[in-house]
Amino acid sequence: MCGICGIVGHQPASPIAFEALRRLEYRGYDSAGIATLTAAGNIERRRAAGKLDNLEYVLKEHPLPGTTGIGHTRWATHGAPTENNAHPHEAGRVAIVHNGIIENFATLKKELEAKGRVFVTETDSETVAHLVDEYLGQGLAPREAAFAAIKRLEGAYAIAMIFKDHEGLLIGARHGAPLAVGYGNGEMFLGSDSIALAPMARKMTYLEDGDWCELTPGHVTIFDMTGAEVSRPVQDLTFMAGQVGKDGYRHYMEKELHEHPVAIGQTLKRITDPASKRIALPEMPFDPAQVPRITITACGSAYYAGMVGRYWLESLARIPVEIDVASEMRYREPPQPDKGVALLISQSGETADTLGVLRSLKKAGQSIVSVLNVEHSTMGRESDLVLGMDAGPEISVASTKAFTAQLSVLAALAIDFARARGTMDQAREERLTASLLDLPSRAAEVFTRTKDIQAMAAVVAQARDVLYLGRGICTPIAFEGALKLKEISYIHAEAYAAGELKHGPISLIDQTVPVVAIAPSTILFDKTLSNLQEAKARGGRILAFTDAEGAKRLEGVAEQVVIMPDVDAFVAPILYAIPVQMLAYEVALLKGTDVDQPRNLAKSVTVE
Ligand code: M6R
Repeated sequence: MCGICGIVGHQPASPIAFEALRRLEYRGYDSAGIATLTAAGNIERRRAAGKLDNLEYVLKEHPLPGTTGIGHTRWATHGAPTENNAHPHEAGRVAIVHNGIIENFATLKKELEAKGRVFVTETDSETVAHLVDEYLGQGLAPREAAFAAIKRLEGAYAIAMIFKDHEGLLIGARHGAPLAVGYGNGEMFLGSDSIALAPMARKMTYLEDGDWCELTPGHVTIFDMTGAEVSRPVQDLTFMAGQVGKDGYRHYMEKELHEHPVAIGQTLKRITDPASKRIALPEMPFDPAQVPRITITACGSAYYAGMVGRYWLESLARIPVEIDVASEMRYREPPQPDKGVALLISQSGETADTLGVLRSLKKAGQSIVSVLNVEHSTMGRESDLVLGMDAGPEISVASTKAFTAQLSVLAALAIDFARARGTMDQAREERLTASLLDLPSRAAEVFTRTKDIQAMAAVVAQARDVLYLGRGICTPIAFEGALKLKEISYIHAEAYAAGELKHGPISLIDQTVPVVAIAPSTILFDKTLSNLQEAKARGGRILAFTDAEGAKRLEGVAEQVVIMPDVDAFVAPILYAIPVQMLAYEVALLKGTDVDQPRNLAKSVTVE
């Protein structure tokens, strides 16, 4: 992960780099640093361990001069999150910032040390600086030295470099990690994503894997991995500068939770025909009626969305679905059917594990469909079809609105497949579509339950361990709840299909372990109720998300209930995801944790 940026222009580079790092901080916040070139052509660096605020303090005390610079915000992979390990790394005549992992760094380091080079950090990235400097020392010009070094790197990287005595020169390279070029007025920029570039550039170009580029004020030359000059499309920046503020909310997560109704509504708007009120997805590059199997792959919350998607696709469209987390799927090598479809789900479109599966399933001849929030991401560019969500930028590390937007797309996809495969009559299709289109209003209603969720949070916040239970299509929502609680409140939480409780985890239950049930009064409610009674009989404190009917039946069983709006069982997982995420948020507030930037995490996981 990590976020990188670069600037060549005519304005002071350091404040611009700092603003870009603020917008990239969601990619990692273990340390941060900026390097610029002084008027005398020397490289100067400022670095600080911890969050950007620490770097801001350092920069106030010791501002950086110069109009050429690079910046980095780190999610530590190799080496502790100390100031010494913070980027930019400098070696002789070059300073670099790097996002990714240099897999052959140990070999390169040994070779460079044998030549007398002294390494001063524990990072893999420092190798890149030494390697480039080694080639500069052999008399190569910066561009040639950079290319010679890049060719020797294995692994994943996005890199930006500046060179002593070369004001107005910036070199970037990408392989397996995203990097974009931004076009300003007589200035050029590099950034890990469009969000970083939004305030300073109106147009941008995504580099492709293996690309590297030379930037001077007002000009970019892009090369491919053979060194041949190439041209890449220039696009308008889709994320506007102002779109990523907190708008008066305490945290991005709070803001993004409140954006659920809009995210669902906007997403559905894109995939519904307003006249007929029927689902209208873009044309598929295959015949859905002929697809023998769908393979769903994703990570984290996106994987849980995929688990719900499997229920819908299997039950409505009667299509076999294989699903796994990307880090496992990638190395399982499951046999792929002829005419099969791979469905990748990702908010960022940059998650390394998911991207790896995309590429291997593409090689295995599968049609690639991806459900993405950032459509111009690497996954978007490498997919046969992108089913875009319209959740808007999601900054908080804990995913919220992107999850319900993903579910909305998957629900629509299941309806679309069911129609094409003739497994659903029109009346049912209309009923299910209507329930989907009604969701934004129902989602808005959930916020009137905030006080009840806060009361539940007061119980959960006291616990050391929490169990989340769901059944059927709501089981993945239990997983989502447990993940969110762990992520932002650091309370240990486990999720189970409620029916599994008696096969082991019931032994965990006593008065200190709250049991959070996701229990709309749908077809499996009676079974869930029995499971909850079993838990209560062992002293468990039952806290339930249910509807009015469920609340009646949970009397005497549940200590607290949050009564949700009545909805069709089909859309219950989408609606119930919202209070479950709100619960985690309220618990985190009580625990006083860093909600938007929880420890050890980063939003975009671009390393394996
Ligand atoms: O960008 P992606 O959707 O591919 O990210 C996948 C996971 O890393 C992500 O959902 C993660 O689990 C979130 N922090 C969950 O809140």
